[in-house]
Amino acid sequence: MQELEALFNPKSVAIVGASHHEGKIGHTVVKNIISSGYKGKIYPINPKGGEILGLKVYRSIEEVDNVDIALIVVPAHIAVEIIEDVAKKAKFAIVITSGFSEVGNIEGEKKLVENARKHGMRVLGPNVFGIYSAKAPINATFGPEKIRKGNIAVVSQSGALGIAMIGRVAEENIGLSAIVSIGNKADLTEVEILSYLFKDDLTKVIFLYIEGLENGREFLNIAKKKPKEKSIIVLKAGRSKAGARAVASHTGSLAGSDAIFDAAFRQAGILRAESLEDGLNWVTTIASSPPPKGKNVVIVTNGGGLGVIAADACEKYGLHLFNDMEVLRKTFQDVMPEFGSYKNPIDITGQAGGEEYRQALEKAFSEDSIHAILALYCERGDAELEEIRDAMAEVHKKYGNKPALYTIFGGEGATHIIQSLKKQGIPAFSDVEDAVSALYALYKVHEKKEEEKFEEVEMNEEKIRKIIEEAYKERRHRLLSHEAKEILLSAGLDVPPFYFVKSIEEAIDSANKIGYPVAMKVVSEGIIHKTDVGGVVLNIENEREVAEAYEAIMENCKRNVPKARIRGVEISKMLEKGVETIIGATTDISFGKVVMFGLGGIYVEVMKDVSFRVAPVPKKEIRRMIREIESYPLLEGVRGEKRKDIEGIVDSIYKVGMLVSKFEEISELDINPLIVYEKGVKVVDARMSIKVRK
Ligand code: COA
Repeated sequence: MQELEALFNPKSVAIVGASHHEGKIGHTVVKNIISSGYKGKIYPINPKGGEILGLKVYRSIEEVDNVDIALIVVPAHIAVEIIEDVAKKAKFAIVITSGFSEVGNIEGEKKLVENARKHGMRVLGPNVFGIYSAKAPINATFGPEKIRKGNIAVVSQSGALGIAMIGRVAEENIGLSAIVSIGNKADLTEVEILSYLFKDDLTKVIFLYIEGLENGREFLNIAKKKPKEKSIIVLKAGRSKAGARAVASHTGSLAGSDAIFDAAFRQAGILRAESLEDGLNWVTTIASSPPPKGKNVVIVTNGGGLGVIAADACEKYGLHLFNDMEVLRKTFQDVMPEFGSYKNPIDITGQAGGEEYRQALEKAFSEDSIHAILALYCERGDAELEEIRDAMAEVHKKYGNKPALYTIFGGEGATHIIQSLKKQGIPAFSDVEDAVSALYALYKVHEKKEEEKFEEVEMNEEKIRKIIEEAYKERRHRLLSHEAKEILLSAGLDVPPFYFVKSIEEAIDSANKIGYPVAMKVVSEGIIHKTDVGGVVLNIENEREVAEAYEAIMENCKRNVPKARIRGVEISKMLEKGVETIIGATTDISFGKVVMFGLGGIYVEVMKDVSFRVAPVPKKEIRRMIREIESYPLLEGVRGEKRKDIEGIVDSIYKVGMLVSKFEEISELDINPLIVYEKGVKVVDARMSIKVRK
């Protein structure tokens, strides 16, 4: 049996804090459980005894048999007091009660979970609105009473939004397999809930509302195990800066950087909706449509203008408009008026009535090389709408072999038709852009996911470890530039020759070995911005200049940063110009090690044109990551320039990903710049930090 089976399919339920007073949460919960047709045992618990809605009330949990779930609806301080007694009787507690970590009562929440876990009881919440599960069926929430059974599971961190969603879903006639509120996630998190839903036969699409993820890694690992036939759509709050602050104060959860969330979801093949509206449109379309068998989309319309808008939207979302004129002509010739157009969008013109529209749809459904249909209809102002609705519904149900999404544009009549189609489980929209966006989502969730492949990188691990240990010994958490470079070299990156020198003689000797021109930089943990203090000299052409540069660097640094400990000078080959890029790695509070890529200078500093991935990253994903930045064309070569060595960047990011994954201690690194040529890439400068050791 699955671990969470008893939570989603309980045989018995106790309500601790069941209330005699209508309108109170402890009363509504009992009422909803009864009216959902729950077949198991129900034990209302309240020290006052008596009866609630015809059920005998027990004065204490001790009086009842063991139960699968106990709903807790008493105030926070009582909840903490009684949780241990509950834990002796129940497998799961659903703690509806608020007043825990979300308002700073961290201690209370900790106690609640500790006392529950002492007896093996798991906790959902606290600060949740309950659970609905179609399997039982049970509506153990204090939200709306009526929930329709279906194949969409909603998992929501926000209670209020979850409740609103039940209402909305009911209005839209969307059926649910489950709705789970996870609130403060003090014990059970989306990770376990997802692993249950992946095995739940009733669930086809999972709609996840997340505010923050503390266990991003675990989440990604479970998301990657998603069965092929199920889809996840996520709506994460906190995209804008203001939104992010609201989240932080809302559930007290630690939201990581939004760009990293985006990247991580993409990497795990989870589609992220921008708005609740999009999210709902997407899940309902996915839940009610078969997967497309190919890329060919056909737009059938009675209005040219609407067709053009749809075609533009298809282009924006990267959907492929089928353009084989021969097939299109063959398919639609019988239904096309003389002045109609075979060019996709198929415009059967405003003259077409219900019958012509029906035939055009039938043709589109019957032609195998058409894989998805966007059916558009502009209200004509006569009484044809019902005919159109029947045509759409009947043809849709008769075939059902490919995705078909309907847009009806018009007034009140059109709205009625849309509602009526939705009621029948047919994806229908009033805005053509919504329909196209939903079709895009459908394609996206059915995209084939490639297997992640990692090949070993040969690294001189011993050397890397030695450098790190040396820094720890000296209680340094920022590595010196030559140490960072040494590590990168040992990890297989292309670092041109460099030396760490402590005297003019050594400097001259090294420069001669490297060959001119060379660059010299001060090495000191106390100096971060080396150029600003006169710690860098470039384009050194001969021995005399080496000596002068050495003296100048020493003098400048001693004068400008008298307190800094100057260790010496790094001397390296002066490199030819190329495209300057940055590769970085950092530790995200939610996802752990992540890597970053961008073009150097203004592209990263001003335009923040960077992309992220959770490390380690397979090479295919790195190629996508590089293409994602807006300045990508500069790497492909603009204005007659040749394409740069993009594979060289891929290889470098790959090695950085492997390095930071293998060496937990490396908390941050920056290769800035990595110069990219037509052939080859070179590490010019590097910074690296290691974690503080406790
Ligand atoms: N065992 C069982 N029942 C007990 C009890 C105990 N030890 N001690 C008291 N009760 C009873 C009370 O007598 C009362 O029943 P009654 O109405 O028949 O008298 C019932 O439990 C509820 O207690 P009460 O003190 O009236 O609390 P309340 O109903 O005003 O509030 C909560 C309780 C849980 C609803 C409230 O504390 C809360 O957290 N509200 C917010 C819920 C929320 O929004 N959650 C998040 C949603 S997303």
